[in-house]
Amino acid sequence: MLNLHSSGFACYSNIFYMAGRTIVTLPGDGIGKVVMKEALRVLDAAGFEADYLHGDIGWEFWCREGNPLPQRTIELIRTYKTALFGAITSKPNEEANAELDGRLHEKGFIYSSPIVGLRQKFDLDICVRPCKSYTGNPLNFIRRGKGGTIEEPPVDVVIFRQNTECLYSGVEWTNPPDDVYHAFMTHRKFVENFGKVPVEELSISTRIFTRKATTRILMAAFEHAKKYGYPSVTLCEKPNVIRETSGLMWKLAKEIQKNSFPEIKLVNTNIDAQMMWLTKNPEDYGVIVAGNMFGDIVSDAFAGLIGGLGFACSGQFSSDGVAVFEPTHGSAPKYAGYEIPIVNPIAMIESACMMLDYIGEKNLSEKIRAAIAAVILEGKVRTYDMMKMTGSPDVIEKGAASTVQLTDAIISRLN
Ligand code: NAI
Ligand code: MG
Repeated sequence: MLNLHSSGFACYSNIFYMAGRTIVTLPGDGIGKVVMKEALRVLDAAGFEADYLHGDIGWEFWCREGNPLPQRTIELIRTYKTALFGAITSKPNEEANAELDGRLHEKGFIYSSPIVGLRQKFDLDICVRPCKSYTGNPLNFIRRGKGGTIEEPPVDVVIFRQNTECLYSGVEWTNPPDDVYHAFMTHRKFVENFGKVPVEELSISTRIFTRKATTRILMAAFEHAKKYGYPSVTLCEKPNVIRETSGLMWKLAKEIQKNSFPEIKLVNTNIDAQMMWLTKNPEDYGVIVAGNMFGDIVSDAFAGLIGGLGFACSGQFSSDGVAVFEPTHGSAPKYAGYEIPIVNPIAMIESACMMLDYIGEKNLSEKIRAAIAAVILEGKVRTYDMMKMTGSPDVIEKGAASTVQLTDAIISRLN
């Protein structure tokens, strides 16, 4: 029998939520700041009472202090545990160095992404990305049915993505050092396939899965399916080819299903086939679980079926009660400086709803989701993405709603 507290789902419920009603807000850069403001307005209007503590994060702090994730922000999150995050800007090393304050040059500062830093610092190993279509969203996926009819299958998928391991662990080399090269040369397949390649022509990225983290993400997925009545959990990996890592995940999934969730069906799909089936029968999937890389892919793919980045929300959870909620989109710098902001605030507002679920305010989150649903169904107030326009300052004149107008419409539907 698996111990839930050490291995699985407890992290993803509010069992560890002890810090009271203090939420750390991390607006970050660009449109992160814009959408955060709107989410807080909605939370307020819905009657959610909390203290918000601002945390510095992002490009500004890299340029000024040489650290986009200052220690004071880490301490805030460590203390209060629940955070709402907007988005940050990351740039390649050359630009990062050029924009660093002159006084900090030659002092050994190296840019690294603060969102990746957050994941590592707090071991936010469980990432949850719900993709549920709203009726009436003009961006919903449609397909041709029998006799040429147009069908709009409802999508209601929750992706559980392992967030800290796999190909994103950063254990990689170009021109690997001798000891690494010799270790690889002990593997028969490496010798056969790459043994004659000059070492300086080799680039190697490793795909690492641990039993502990794999068990935790699987448990979280099964617990979610059980709690919300999904009949199945689909593992989306490639165990027939990637036999060790995907294979481990499939083996553990079978054990967990058999021992702890016999009432829930376990389905195995390969990531490549899943991408093909995505548009064939998206309504047939419920809870999907995957490692970091394939989880990233499959969650973006499903997000595309429900409206894309303006609608894609997420929550990230650690085993000791730290939770960070954020839209999947980035800082969209090209839209950041608009006098009248045009971006869609729904992904951020939905992320705030996930936070409400987490801290036990399901009534409020459902109220907000119902308001979003009503505005979308009515179809009168739509940001440029929902109008299928290219983003530019004149979309407002062309009939698109601004960020603030869409938020206002949601707020007006709250009661
Ligand atoms: P992005 O997500 O910022 O924007 C891509 C495009 O998606 C935008 O140009 C826009 O057309 C659309 N879009 C994004 N959010 C939208 C919204 N709320 N409403 C309507 N349309 C929206 O990704 P991009 O351009 O690749 O990266 C921009 C910056 O953001 C980079 O510095 C990147 O490193 C960073 N980034 C940060 C992330 C995070 O904070 N978690 C995630 C992804 C990118
Ligand atoms: Mg992605």
